[in-house]
Amino acid sequence: RQRERAKLVDAHAFTAKVYHYILRNTAAGTPAMDYLRSRGLNDKLIEEFGIGYAPARWDTLTQALTRNGYELDEMERGGLISRKHEGDGFVDRFRDRVMFPIHDGDGKFVAFAGRLMSDGQPKYLNSPESPLFSKSRTLYRLHEAKGAIRKSRQAVLFEGYMDVIKAWSAGVANGIATMGTALTAEHAALLKRFADEAIVCYDGDDAGQAAAQKSIPLLEGAGIRVRVGMLPGRMDPDEYITENGPEAFVRETIEGAVSAVKFQLIYLRKSHILLEEDGKIRYLKDAIRLVARRESPTERELILKELAQEFGVSLDTLKQDVVDVRRQEK
Ligand code: GTP
Ligand code: MN
Ligand code: MN
Ligand code: MN
Ligand code: MN
Repeated sequence: RQRERAKLVDAHAFTAKVYHYILRNTAAGTPAMDYLRSRGLNDKLIEEFGIGYAPARWDTLTQALTRNGYELDEMERGGLISRKHEGDGFVDRFRDRVMFPIHDGDGKFVAFAGRLMSDGQPKYLNSPESPLFSKSRTLYRLHEAKGAIRKSRQAVLFEGYMDVIKAWSAGVANGIATMGTALTAEHAALLKRFADEAIVCYDGDDAGQAAAQKSIPLLEGAGIRVRVGMLPGRMDPDEYITENGPEAFVRETIEGAVSAVKFQLIYLRKSHILLEEDGKIRYLKDAIRLVARRESPTERELILKELAQEFGVSLDTLKQDVVDVRRQEK
């Protein structure tokens, strides 16, 4: 067991080296280098993140592993290669993809994510679950971001690999991401070991905003305070940084991140028509429910004051509503 895990970690490190070498030093890697540059990644970033390229041929890695004495059966269990559909033998799992190595919390190589350079499905191919790798327990770049997270007790949570990379280049050293799956309670518990606050910085599209909404109770349930970084016009952090530059991103999205309840209220607005009287009433009803869930009386009062002002209702009335909801929910 232990020996097989060690062997697989070693094979992943070897594979990362092979893919990185191909990207940096071979003609086959040139289109991938062009692709990465077109996405704004310079040499320094490519080195820092250990990015590589898996060629289009069927057997580049399979042969390299064989030549270096790795057991192919074992490598297949680790998800580096696949069994041929017909006949004996193995083929590379990742072909014609830009490769992002994934480490576990201790910095060991445990998986890859491979991105297609053109349209096609799946856009990202991940390593399968293996003795080394579990998506629901892995946070991309946690090992590298750990120091910065511990120091500030704060982490920035992104949706995608490219978001973490571009944010890192903008000076955000405490950025991490899930592996393209929803945040789990396990992720939140893991994060709580290093952070007291998370800035959720998901894509500005509907899917990203819905995912941000769902992440709030999970993080708060683990004892992590949540703020949400907002992006205009359905952009993702990578696109925003490319368009507006690193300083604007840090200032507007990270430093300007709003409290969890503020975000929930903004999100709630989208499903109510506030021009109509009963739309307003329904919105306020839902908003009061959200405010009632906040444990801090100060936070409740601050939000209620804003609502009172905006909707021309007295603060006392709103407070009474909150008291009623809290009593019912006890
Ligand atoms: P880019 O297009 O390279 O900028 O990626 P993105 O991160 O903006 O992609 P998107 O917002 O569509 O998805 C967010 C994250 O979900 C990605 O970083 C991946 O982790 C994951 N993801 C996206 N597409 C796929 C897919 O086809 N398969 C898998 N397994 N994961 C995906
Ligand atoms: Mn290098
Ligand atoms: Mn997205
Ligand atoms: Mn995205
Ligand atoms: Mn993107």
